[in-house]
Amino acid sequence: MELLEIEDKLVYQKDGHFVGHIDYHEEEDSSVYINYFQIYKEYQTFGLGSEMLKEMISYFRENGFKTIKLEAIPMESSMSITTLISFYMKNGFDYMFRGTNYLKLDLNIESFR
Ligand SMILES: CC(C)(COP(=O)(O)OP(=O)(O)OC[C@H]1O[C@@H](n2cnc3c(N)ncnc32)[C@H](O)[C@@H]1OP(=O)(O)O)[C@@H](O)C(=O)NCCC(=O)NCCS
Repeated sequence: MELLEIEDKLVYQKDGHFVGHIDYHEEEDSSVYINYFQIYKEYQTFGLGSEMLKEMISYFRENGFKTIKLEAIPMESSMSITTLISFYMKNGFDYMFRGTNYLKLDLNIESFR
């Protein structure tokens, strides 16, 4: 498993295959904002999304960030907003806000272990 930084993306690689990526940008107050997070279709539901989030949190911690902000929009009808909320909360995020078709969640890197 390897997390690679390519331009403004973090790409996750397993056994020589790209399995997913994160688009992000840096914000004020040592926070980072996740615009988009995806595990590619054929690699979903094998635990890679959870693994990649853990790697991502370590990566941002090592780079001095304190907070991860995430806006999530379910991209496929198979994954409901409720499922997405439990996915991110299981991975350490705090649920902040739910709009009609999107979510906002935050993760405090310093208090996450
Ligand atoms: C959301 C996403 C990143 C999860 O990645 P993943 O590798 O499939 O996640 P995991 O295998 O770690 O699974 C996490 C949990 O979500 C569940 N899950 C994953 N995909 C699911 C789906 N399509 N429908 C229902 N449940 C799903 C898994 O069963 C698992 O639950 P469990 O731990 O209770 O067994 C991935 O499905 C994805 O990229 N989806 C399309 C893009 C998207 O919607 N991105 C999120 C908004 S930015």
